[in-house]
Amino acid sequence: MLQRRLLAFLALFLLVLVACNNNQTAATEQEIPTLNNLIPKPVQVKADTGFFTLNDSTFITVPVGDTALLQIARYIITVLKPATGFKLKIDTNPKPSNSITLALVNDSSLNNEGYELKVSNSGITINAFQPAGLFYGVQTIRQLLPAAIGKDSLVITNWQMATGAIRDYPEYAMRGAMLDVARHFFDVDAVKRYIDFLAYYKMNTLHLHLSDDQGWRIEIKKWPRLTEYGSTTQVGGGQGGFYTQEQYKDIVTYAANRFITVIPEIDMPGHTNAALASYPELNCNEKDKSPKLYTGIEVGFSTLCTQNEKVYQFVDDVLKELAAITPGPYLHIGGDESHATKKEDYIPFMNRVQTMVKKQGKQVIGWDEIANATLQPGTLAQYWADSANSKNAVKKGAKIIMSPAARSYMDMQYDSTSKLGLHWAGYIEVDKAYSWNPATLVDSIERNNIVGVIAPLWSETIVTMNDIEYMVFPRLPGYAEIAWSPASGRSWEEYKNRLGNHGRQMKAKHINYYPSKLVDWKQ
Ligand code: ACM
Repeated sequence: MLQRRLLAFLALFLLVLVACNNNQTAATEQEIPTLNNLIPKPVQVKADTGFFTLNDSTFITVPVGDTALLQIARYIITVLKPATGFKLKIDTNPKPSNSITLALVNDSSLNNEGYELKVSNSGITINAFQPAGLFYGVQTIRQLLPAAIGKDSLVITNWQMATGAIRDYPEYAMRGAMLDVARHFFDVDAVKRYIDFLAYYKMNTLHLHLSDDQGWRIEIKKWPRLTEYGSTTQVGGGQGGFYTQEQYKDIVTYAANRFITVIPEIDMPGHTNAALASYPELNCNEKDKSPKLYTGIEVGFSTLCTQNEKVYQFVDDVLKELAAITPGPYLHIGGDESHATKKEDYIPFMNRVQTMVKKQGKQVIGWDEIANATLQPGTLAQYWADSANSKNAVKKGAKIIMSPAARSYMDMQYDSTSKLGLHWAGYIEVDKAYSWNPATLVDSIERNNIVGVIAPLWSETIVTMNDIEYMVFPRLPGYAEIAWSPASGRSWEEYKNRLGNHGRQMKAKHINYYPSKLVDWKQ
């Protein structure tokens, strides 16, 4: 008898314990965020005191016949469904209440990516000058709902949002991240998850580093050995991989549906061992054997033979096929660390390849070393290490993409105890990643010289999606804010509180983030 009572008591005790634990999650992940908790920080926020409640009967309304807006409405349904279970409906008739209303307005002061969001007790409206702005308004809504909205399974709760008004637009036109799929290969699903991270923080550019010494990752039909052979390994000797052109198009479409432009990079004339190993005729000593495939992490030892006409045929074919599957305006031709190329060979090579990009109707991007060449009008130089190169590029009339290694390389270790990453550009803790201004980082590179910010993730030590997440989070939201929000309103002391609150959002999305001790993480 006594035993039974004891058992019953124990069972009750356990039940209470479990319930308490559940409540704890409920009280945090389901807490209603304020309008002052957004990343990137909006330009103008007016918080109000009411609440809007999303439910299964909320309508999304769009104007008749606007396919771009219809697509955004469908995207809203897709992102809200897993956690809410709601099957929201789309309608073209305005509703008096309980609706999310999307509309384009003739207000060019919002620019192509800005939006106005109003949340009242009875509904939500997003106005924008262009569809991209509506898409970013939707990202704001996602951040205003309880963090549990990021879960991939059903959560039973009141889906409430604080009321208020936001007017918001980006500082820089280009905001993004680079992923090195050459040193370690990442499959289509991993790239899509990466794209979703960018979209959530209102970034619009994915720079894909598609070729390097360790692997060639994009199918080129005229030069099949690039992938048949040149893709078959990676750093450390794993099996590597590549995207078929169909898979690449799938990535590009997935990105485009999230208002993200893919910038494909074929790095040359250096960083080309995988191509040189695949085709002997790209080497200067053609009669010698091709080099072996490379699985180390040294740089600067390989070069296409810039004296050889076949190399230009090769480059032309590659750029032509790549341009045909890349709707975005850019082709990135690398140009960094070509230490095995003589300067007198490098310059005419980069000049000629720029002309080939132009012939495909695309704009050239090169790492900052490209400033040594003659720059075509419209060429962008990506500052990563050498400020003299970047200043030189500006003198030659080029605009700059800011990717400073010492601030924005997401493969740098956070500190000396980080298990992943390198530190040749220094340790980049979350505060150092956040506390810089693109327009003042390098003297004589000013606001009007800069098109935007791309934060690169090189993959020497990055093998899995979990690794990607650990290096990208929590630095990526900071880069997104640097590129989107006015510098005048930014400070680490204020930002770190918002970032701490985003711990809940990262947790709900199962993001394996680095829990920096500099931040008070809310769980
Ligand atoms: C680079 O990090 N080599 C651009």
